[in-house]
Amino acid sequence: MEICVIGAGYVGLTSSVIFARLGHKVNCVDKDADKIKKLQEGSVTIFEPGLEKLLVSFNRNMSFSTNIEKAIEKAEVILIAVGTPPLPDGEADLQYVNEVIQTIASLIYSHKTIITKSTVPIGTNDKLVQMLLDLEVKRERFNVVSNPEFLREGSAVFDMLHPDKIVVGLEENDKESLFTMKQLYYGIDAPFIVTSLKGAEMIKYASNSFLATKISFMNEMARICDTFNVDIMDIAEAIGTDPRIGSHFLKAGIGYGGSCFPKDLKSLIHTAQKHDLVPKLLMATEEVNQTQVDIYMDKLTSHIPNLSNKNCTVLGLSFKPNTDDTRSSPAIKLINKLVEQGANVHSYDPKAIYEQKNVIQHHHVMDAIKEADCVIITTDWNEFLHLDWKKIKKNMRGNLILDARNLLNKITIEKHGLRYVGVGR
Ligand code: UDX
Repeated sequence: MEICVIGAGYVGLTSSVIFARLGHKVNCVDKDADKIKKLQEGSVTIFEPGLEKLLVSFNRNMSFSTNIEKAIEKAEVILIAVGTPPLPDGEADLQYVNEVIQTIASLIYSHKTIITKSTVPIGTNDKLVQMLLDLEVKRERFNVVSNPEFLREGSAVFDMLHPDKIVVGLEENDKESLFTMKQLYYGIDAPFIVTSLKGAEMIKYASNSFLATKISFMNEMARICDTFNVDIMDIAEAIGTDPRIGSHFLKAGIGYGGSCFPKDLKSLIHTAQKHDLVPKLLMATEEVNQTQVDIYMDKLTSHIPNLSNKNCTVLGLSFKPNTDDTRSSPAIKLINKLVEQGANVHSYDPKAIYEQKNVIQHHHVMDAIKEADCVIITTDWNEFLHLDWKKIKKNMRGNLILDARNLLNKITIEKHGLRYVGVGR
């Protein structure tokens, strides 16, 4: 199939590479000329394990350009994967999706299956259908399909190749698009969940909200565990054995971040409120997440009451391991609070960069740790599991290790004469 993917971000780029690997001819377009130039040269603009290798191996099936007109003209399938960032009130900003529809409308001369991969509020795809009709695109020339994406950053390639389901939302009388979707995903072994356009949109929001709620639930349990001196890790292990609960997403820590959970939760809350509903549980999930960083700040200041001119080393900048993405990263929230309190902040991350004039970023862990009064683990990178604590103790000025991801082994840390503080442990 000839596919045009609009948007070369995480979802657009990964989808392009995977569909090329499945044997389709993919033309990925983006307005950002620098990004397209790099991709044309075979280098990936984001850090995503396995992506660059696939890009190089299947480049015969792929092309990148800024010329959306040409790409649309040839394509049978158009995949929309542009951003839907939050507006200040939490509502998803649909300007890029709307722009794309306007552009597509003027270029449809043969039948197109228009697939929305971008996460959009419930009812958006129905509006896109209406928009195309209003722009005088003939009804028989297009079908809109909602096909949300559930990939995780850091394992995007694996997730797209091995999804647990493929969600397909169809227009009411659409008899053909399911066949197109099956052809598109031919070679991927996963069940198809077929629903309405709105159903597919809601599945994406429900999925992310549920996962975010699971995390906030555990963070709340960790707060209670702290009061009673109980280890949250024991609780997670035990309740996770119950298949009704499941063992994933039970890790208490400094809260969730990234480009999806915070944005999608805000958007769903906004949608519900717009329809006079009070989504109390979702609001509580957000509230717990927003205040989670404060818990760690309180812990820190209970050990070091005055942070002014204290050397605080923050290990981890990305919102989770195996990505260089710092969007809505709790690590950055914490850094900003440390800076506000006058601390000298030193940071290290294996991949991510955060440029802030008050933060010194180091290329080696040991350089970041030199003369530190405290070390804070903010991202659960595997690398931090193998640190030389003996050497760290020698290089530090103080002895406090604040484990904001409950990553480390308390006994190992304490064995080296360091003071270990986690959350709910
Ligand atoms: C998420 C969804 O998992 C994915 O299906 C969706 O398509 C996009 O949003 P992603 O944002 O890449 O993916 O990351 P994910 O691995 O889900 O982690 C999100 C955040 O939750 C991270 O900040 C992570 O550190 C945190 N988290 C996750 C916890 O604090 N505890 C956990 O137990 C799991």
